[in-house]
Amino acid sequence: MSTVTKLELIYEGKAKKVYATSDPDCCIVSYKDDATALDGLKKGTIAGKGAINNRMSNLLMRMLEQNGVPTHLVEELSERDTLVKKVEIVPLEVIVRNCSAGHFAQRYGVPEGMVFDEPTLELCYKNDALHDPLLNDSHALALGLTTKQELETIRTLALRVNALLKDFWKQRGVDLIDFKLEFGRLPDGSIVLADEISPDTCRFWDSATHEKLDKDRFRRDMGGVEAAYQEMMTRLTKPNGGEQA
Ligand code: TMP
Ligand code: ASP
Repeated sequence: MSTVTKLELIYEGKAKKVYATSDPDCCIVSYKDDATALDGLKKGTIAGKGAINNRMSNLLMRMLEQNGVPTHLVEELSERDTLVKKVEIVPLEVIVRNCSAGHFAQRYGVPEGMVFDEPTLELCYKNDALHDPLLNDSHALALGLTTKQELETIRTLALRVNALLKDFWKQRGVDLIDFKLEFGRLPDGSIVLADEISPDTCRFWDSATHEKLDKDRFRRDMGGVEAAYQEMMTRLTKPNGGEQA
């Protein structure tokens, strides 16, 4: 068990708080039940979400680590708190899609649910004031947000994360439609997966019924939000419907 102590709040985001710790190389991330959508215009709470996202993100990051993806994860400290390596966040939202949904469907005028032969990868500039605009590699380089070498690493890691997560969830009766990742730089310049992987940041559809089991239920006022998060937590710990470990 860690002996690191929580110090002052250094940043409060929409869904998480970040605290300094007695270890200058680490932070504590504390997951909240708060939820926002539509660029922060829609606000609410999803009871129990913080604990679920903390647990789920940590279990998924541990699985990714075991499969060669470096992450910021150090240790889960409590129901809502996790010790992570302090990183400088690369200001890019990296979105991988296996199937049309959300902004992709809107932007290109196609229905949701078109399965792609190959995953797509898109980048958005992580900047709330500008509403996280879409950009391409050359834009990201021109803006000095990242380097060619980092982009190459980010692309390779994002696609590896997709392959691993897609397979992981398939075994649990869930189709991974799309998701958003964020990456960070360690003091030595190396790139690690940061932020979270949860129903806030992924679209999950039941493989058989295509029922939505993610934050779209909140974004679209569909009801059953808490139940969907709970269901995903149950599936996480019970591969093949709990028939075998
Ligand atoms: P999009 O279809 O709205 O672009 O979303 C793609 C994926 O990214 C989806 O799984 C939800 C996730 N996402 C975030 O995690 N944060 C965001 O701010 C947005 C817009 C999407
Ligand atoms: N979290 C984002 C916001 O507050 C968007 C989203 O997840 O839909 O606007």
